[in-house]
This record gives sequence, C-alpha cells and structure tokens, in this order.
Amino acid sequence: MNKNKLEKTFKYKRLTISIHKEVYDPAEDTFLLLDSLIIKPGDRVFEIGTGCGIIGLYCATIGADVLCCDINPFAVELVKKNYQQNLKLLKGNFEVRIGDIFSVLNKEDLFDIIVFNPPYLPTSFQDLVGGSGWFDKSVDGGTDGLNTTKRFIESVSNYLKKDGCAYFIFSSLSDRKKLNKIINQTYLNKTIISSKKFNDEQLDVYCLKK
Ligand SMILES: C[S@@+](CC[C@H](N)C(=O)[O-])C[C@H]1O[C@@H](n2cnc3c(N)ncnc32)[C@H](O)[C@@H]1O
Repeated sequence: MNKNKLEKTFKYKRLTISIHKEVYDPAEDTFLLLDSLIIKPGDRVFEIGTGCGIIGLYCATIGADVLCCDINPFAVELVKKNYQQNLKLLKGNFEVRIGDIFSVLNKEDLFDIIVFNPPYLPTSFQDLVGGSGWFDKSVDGGTDGLNTTKRFIESVSNYLKKDGCAYFIFSSLSDRKKLNKIINQTYLNKTIISSKKFNDEQLDVYCLKK
C-alpha cells in the first residue's frame, strides 16, 4: 500500500481515525449504526465490512473482544494503522482479517454481536466511481441492493449466540419486500431499532435475533 495515498484524519469520541481514498469514508449510515449498538464489556463482536475500522475499534474501547474483516486490502491496511494509533484506548482484544463475509471464521465461532454496514445501494442509485473498483464494492448492492445483505442474512444465525444480536443497515432505496422474504426464510426475529431520513432515503438499523 502506498502510504502517500493516506489522506485525512478525524476524531470520533476519543478515537483518531485516518481515512483513505480507496476505503469507504464513515458517513450517516456508519454513525446511525454506532449510535444504535448496545455493547457490553466482554461481548464477542464480529464486524463485517469494517472499512476504516471505526465501528470495531469503538466496540473495543468499551471492552468488547472484536474481530473484523473486509474484502478490501486497502481497508485492512488502514484498520491496522487505525488500531495502532488508538491502541491506548482499547480495552478489549482487536483483530482484523481480510476476506468475504463469514469466510474468515471457523465453523465453531460464535458471537454476542455481529455488525454489518453492507454495500446496500441498488446499482441504479449509486454513482459509480470506477478506478480500482474498491469504493464501488463498498456501496453497490446489485440490482435490488440486497446481493451482499442476502448472503449475510442467510448464514448469520450459524455464528450468533443464543441471545446474540446481528445488526445491519438497510436503505429504503432497496427492496424491502424481498428483504422481509429473505429474513422470514431464516426464522430469525427482526426488529428495526432505529431509523433516520435523509432527503429521499430512509436508513434503518435492523437487529436479528434467534
Ligand atoms: C458501506 S461500507 C461500510 C464501512 C464501515 N463499516 C462503515 O460503516 O463506515 C461497506 C464495507 O463492506 C466491505 N465489503 C463489501 N463486500 C464485502 C464482503 N463480501 N465481505 C466483506 N466485506 C465487504 C467494503 O469493502 C466496505 O468496506
């Protein structure tokens, strides 16, 4: 990774977060999710699609033991940098792995909390940036916006403890009927725990439980 491409830094609570042009910048969806999470010290947390790592690192400041992953190698490098520069604030363990959704886990891994701010925009709504394609992979959810979310929902119960909760972001620009159908097929219980409107779009934070 070319270190010269590292750009800005910002503060979230006490965390110092660097961002990178090939990695998703924390935005309204990130902060809505952060405001919605209920994390306890000692919780085992798995964050998928960690981007710059802000959500996983925040959970570790509370004392959760955090594993996160991303398919974007620039994100994984950036998370390692953000981990190092916030080391003193972290009360729980923190690890980042590169890979696709649950592929980074062992079959027997179980978590109290699983978090995913997925690429959720229907292809027709997103502004394709092109270039290396990593930014597009952060936002493009395919024709119905649910490509990655569907794969997440279909397997998440295998990695969730009995009383665990899987949080994810859904955009009203995606297909909610299809989302409900996907969730119903898993027998997981769904709750929308928070929502926020932005112009023509509403973002919802879903919590899935066994
Ligand atoms: C909307 S961004 C969220 C980034 C960060 N969690 C946040 O909230 O600011 C989606 C992230 O998911 C990652 N991603 C996309 N598809 C993935 C997959 N199949 N497996 C793991 N990560 C994925 C992207 O690289 C990107 O970092």
